[in-house]
Amino acid sequence: MWNQTYEIGSSFHLLNKKILEIENSSEPINIQDSENLKFLSSGRQAICACLTDITKTVNTNKTALVPAYTCQSVLGGFLEKGYHLSFYSVDQKFQVRTSTLNNLIKNKTPDVLLFHPYFGFDTIIQDQLLDKQSTIVIYDATQSWASGFEYPFADYKIVSLRKWAALPDGAIAEKINGKFCLLSIEPEQEDLTKDTLQVYDLKEKYLSYQKGEKSEMLQGFANLKQTFFDNQYTLHSMTNFSRKMLELFTAKSTLKEWQLQRRVNYQTLYNYANWDKIGTPYFELATGVIPLYFPLNVKNMTRQDFQEYLATNNVYCPVVWPIPQNVEITPVSDELAKIRKNCLCIPIDQRYSKKDMEYILELIDKLKIY
Ligand SMILES: Cc1ncc(COP(=O)(O)O)c(C=O)c1O
Repeated sequence: MWNQTYEIGSSFHLLNKKILEIENSSEPINIQDSENLKFLSSGRQAICACLTDITKTVNTNKTALVPAYTCQSVLGGFLEKGYHLSFYSVDQKFQVRTSTLNNLIKNKTPDVLLFHPYFGFDTIIQDQLLDKQSTIVIYDATQSWASGFEYPFADYKIVSLRKWAALPDGAIAEKINGKFCLLSIEPEQEDLTKDTLQVYDLKEKYLSYQKGEKSEMLQGFANLKQTFFDNQYTLHSMTNFSRKMLELFTAKSTLKEWQLQRRVNYQTLYNYANWDKIGTPYFELATGVIPLYFPLNVKNMTRQDFQEYLATNNVYCPVVWPIPQNVEITPVSDELAKIRKNCLCIPIDQRYSKKDMEYILELIDKLKIY
């Protein structure tokens, strides 16, 4: 099974056979925009769509309360729209309480609150009813999309879909009670599908036939990010290729299959008897949870050393997220500082089987800690 270029982790890609199947599938029926639902190219665009709608419907001072632990591109949407940001932290289990949010809403009276659960787990502790006052709430379901959590206090919901499958682009913006104002949405980004499928082909040739240079393939992915996503806040429609793919990916039997595979993979890692050697998994797998990754609290060696050890053995574990560089974030609780230092995400997605997870565990078994 282990040819030289077999990898676990890193960017999704599609096989040529799958690309043809998607291209030849019928036009999507369910993945269609409506008055309260827009399919856009990226999560940051989906956040911008909500902020534009808010500006058009209520008077705001452009202040927002957002998580201190988040992705740079989440903050980018707010900065693009001229928002002043304040932050709330999370505890050692990534949790935030609605009572904490209530206090902050009372003190800071933000126009907008954005929250998100982490890694597919419900980290929003509803110890009080959320007293929103006039604050408008955006639920960013990027990491919890497959678990299907709903929060009754949300006014908008957004999802960036590229974290879940090899979709060239894709995000959802939903206005929960009502219709979006007229949003100016440009057609799909020209060349996005074509360029992405070319890079998928490079990856396929590299992985299956050891053809081409790895650096060329990695540069291809970096170029896609830079051309179509970094600093791209103009709203663009989700590509038709991604819409077709999303329709197939969310068809009942397919959905069940990949959701189950993620749970099996997660549980296989979780059942490992010797985690203590390295650190501690942050989350037990509750019923109904579909995990995005297997986040691990690395304690007995540096995260970087552990990450490099796995990478040397072709297992690529991302740090989610590097500290955003586009704005200074305070306060950062001690617990969050530790998360930022120690949390490493092991891939458990549907590309992999129980055997792949066992391979990762064998590597950990072989690891010597001094
Ligand atoms: C929680 C969350 N929301 C939104 C985004 C932005 O998504 P996109 O990269 O599609 O703009 C990200 C990106 O990683 C994210 O992690």
